[in-house]
Amino acid sequence: MILCVGATGLLGGTVVEELLKRGKKVRCFVRQDSDTVRLEKTGVEIIRGSLRDRKAITAALHNVDAVISSFAANIVKDRRAAALWENDYEGNLSLIKCSREAGVKKFIFVSYWGLAKFGNFEHGKIKKVVEDLLAVSGIDYTVFRVTTLATDMSLLLGRRLIKKGWAPLFMKPHEKIRPILLEDLAWCMADALDNQKASCRVIEVAGKEEYDFISFQELFCKAIGKRVRFVFIPLPLTNFIASCIDFATNCRYNARGLVSAFTGGSTCDITEMEKIFAVQQGSFARYLEDFFKNAKAEKPPAAKS
Ligand SMILES: NC(=O)c1ccc[n+]([C@@H]2O[C@H](COP(=O)([O-])OP(=O)(O)OC[C@H]3O[C@@H](n4cnc5c(N)ncnc54)[C@H](OP(=O)(O)O)[C@@H]3O)[C@@H](O)[C@H]2O)c1
Repeated sequence: MILCVGATGLLGGTVVEELLKRGKKVRCFVRQDSDTVRLEKTGVEIIRGSLRDRKAITAALHNVDAVISSFAANIVKDRRAAALWENDYEGNLSLIKCSREAGVKKFIFVSYWGLAKFGNFEHGKIKKVVEDLLAVSGIDYTVFRVTTLATDMSLLLGRRLIKKGWAPLFMKPHEKIRPILLEDLAWCMADALDNQKASCRVIEVAGKEEYDFISFQELFCKAIGKRVRFVFIPLPLTNFIASCIDFATNCRYNARGLVSAFTGGSTCDITEMEKIFAVQQGSFARYLEDFFKNAKAEKPPAAKS
C-alpha cells in the first residue's frame, strides 16, 4: 500500500493515476476540507485528517510500505513565512517521524532544484531541512528536486499572457528554463518505488527541452497564436521594492527571499536523471500548444448582442 499526501494537487493527482496504472494499492491522506471529487473517481482509499494529528497519521500508515509526500502550502492563499513552516516543515516532520515508527520502507519527497540559489526562500529552506531529515531518518528515500512544473507555466504564466498580453519576469533574458511535464515526473516518482538506482538519492529532475526566456516567449506567442511578451524587471528595482515590504511588515512575508526564488533561471543537468530513469519525456512545446488549443475549445461562445 502506498500513502500519498498532496494527492488532491496537480502533481499528486497525476502520481496517483500513474500508481494505479502500475497496479499499486493507493491510500490518500487529505485535509478535512480537501476537494476529493477527482480522487473519488479513481476509487482509491481516502482518509481525511490533519498532519498535526499524529494519531490520524499513524492510522493512515497502517500496512503502508511507502509514502509519497508532494503536499505544499498554497502561497497564493497565505504568503506568511511562518505559515509555510507550520504547514510544510511541521507536516513533513510528523509524516517522517510517524513513517519511521510505522516501519515504512520508502519515502518519496518532492523538493526544489536550486536550493543554493533558493537559500533565503522559505520554500527552499524548508525543502532542504526536510531533505536532511530524510537523510538521517533511516528510511530509504528518493528526493526529487524539481525545476518548474509545466502546469505552473501554462496555468499561471500562460493564462496571464492570454488575459493581459504581457507578464513581468524577474529572470534575465539569457537565463534558462526546463519545465517538466507532470506525467513524466509522476512516472519517475512511481518508478522510484522499486528502482534500486533511486535508493537513498537526491535527484535533480527537469524536462528534456531547455529554453532561454527569449525563445520561451516565442514559444508562448506560437502556442497562443498572437504576440505576447515578457517584461524583464531589473533585479535591483525588485529587490528594492521587496526590501521596503520586508521593512514595513517586519519580514512577515520574506519578500526578498521570495524574489530570490524567481531569479537565476530554472534548469539543471538531467544526465543523472536519465541514467536512473528510463522515462521517455514528452515535449513541453507540444504540451503548451495542446493546452492553449484546449483552452480555446473550452471558451464559451461570446453572447450575441
Ligand atoms: N509548481 C512548481 O513549479 C514546483 C516546482 C518545484 C517543486 N514543486 C513542488 O511540487 C509539489 C506539488 O506541487 P503542485 O503544483 O502539485 O501543488 P498543488 O497543486 O498546489 O497541490 C498541493 C497539495 O498539497 C495539499 N496540502 C497542502 N497542505 C496540506 C496539509 N497540511 N495536509 C494535507 N495536504 C496538504 C493540498 O491539499 P488541498 O487540496 O487540501 O489544498 C494539495 O493537494 C509541491 O511539493 C511543490 O512544492 C512545485
